[in-house]
Amino acid sequence: MIQVKNLQKLFKIKKRKPGFLGSIQSLVYAETDWIRAVDNISFEIGQGELVGYIGQNGAGKSTTIKMLTGILKPTSGEILVNGVDPSRDRKKNAFQIGVVFGQRSQLWMDLPVEESFDLLRSIYKIDSAVYKQKIELFSDLLGLKDFFQQQARKLSLGQRMKADLAASLLHSPKVLFLDEPTIGLDLLVKERVRTFIRQINEEEKVTIILTTHDVQDIEYLAGRIIIIDRGKIAYDGGISNFNRILGNDSAVSVHFQIPVDLKTVPKPFEIKEKVSANNYIIRLPDGEPLSLLLEFFQSKAYPLQEINREKPELGDAIKKMYAGREDE
Ligand SMILES: Nc1ncnc2c1ncn2[C@@H]1O[C@H](COP(=O)(O)OP(=O)(O)OP(=O)(O)O)[C@@H](O)[C@H]1O
Ligand SMILES: [Mg+2]
Repeated sequence: MIQVKNLQKLFKIKKRKPGFLGSIQSLVYAETDWIRAVDNISFEIGQGELVGYIGQNGAGKSTTIKMLTGILKPTSGEILVNGVDPSRDRKKNAFQIGVVFGQRSQLWMDLPVEESFDLLRSIYKIDSAVYKQKIELFSDLLGLKDFFQQQARKLSLGQRMKADLAASLLHSPKVLFLDEPTIGLDLLVKERVRTFIRQINEEEKVTIILTTHDVQDIEYLAGRIIIIDRGKIAYDGGISNFNRILGNDSAVSVHFQIPVDLKTVPKPFEIKEKVSANNYIIRLPDGEPLSLLLEFFQSKAYPLQEINREKPELGDAIKKMYAGREDE
């Protein structure tokens, strides 16, 4: 559905000399510098995939999204979105994609939401029966009707985001680009938006690229993540694999009925943490059967009370990766 090959975006910036004289000199003769915002990236995304596109501030995420949506022209490289080159055929691309920038609304600020939607209906030539059906759907899922008559400028942030999401999907796009769609939302609205994104992906089979700094968004939504770091792809793959690469194996929390003095466990298990004499966290390398561990406790006559599997923290893994980069 989306093919990106050796994509690059360089931004030209003026080097300013310090001081007053310097700024006058810059007017006449300014040295230029280049920022490599996106540095030779390649990836493919299949139809119906939901991919988390993550990275630190300034990593190049929004720049990538802007090229995929045709807002920015690549410096070099190739993009095909459902067979369309977005910068060459921007209009055709616009009909098959939806875009939400959490930081900026796409709605007409001075118009009531309903009128913005009406405009979109005529721009995209949406059949009125289909339109009606969509409005009903978005009212059910996002409570759209509650603020449909409201001027966009006067919407709360959460309402605005819901309106933007609904607007981006009116014309039944095949691909949806979401650039920080949950930024600034309260927990309940975040959850609503997440559930909505998931539904759109699963039920309507919309291919989604999601940019976010919210680890929970990623954990809830994305099976696959692409991590971009200073313009380059640092990781592309599944979340569980990412955890494994960074040594974040899953773990179990073991509660004993009595205090025990646990010094070792059979390899490849490992004691990760002693929470108390009754409770230990034990690292569980992927694929190792838990039964081996249970047999060991039995042989030692340590009575078990409870055993819980702990999910590896994606956030920890991401932090670890970012920190690793900073040390370089
Ligand atoms: N129009 C522009 N002109 C010059 N430099 C730009 C322009 N747009 C982006 N940049 C630079 O390109 C780099 C990547 O920016 P981008 O907005 O893609 O980052 P991001 O990953 O979306 O970050 P954030 O998480 O903060 O939104 C940054 O160094 C930024 O300053
Ligand atoms: Mg950004």
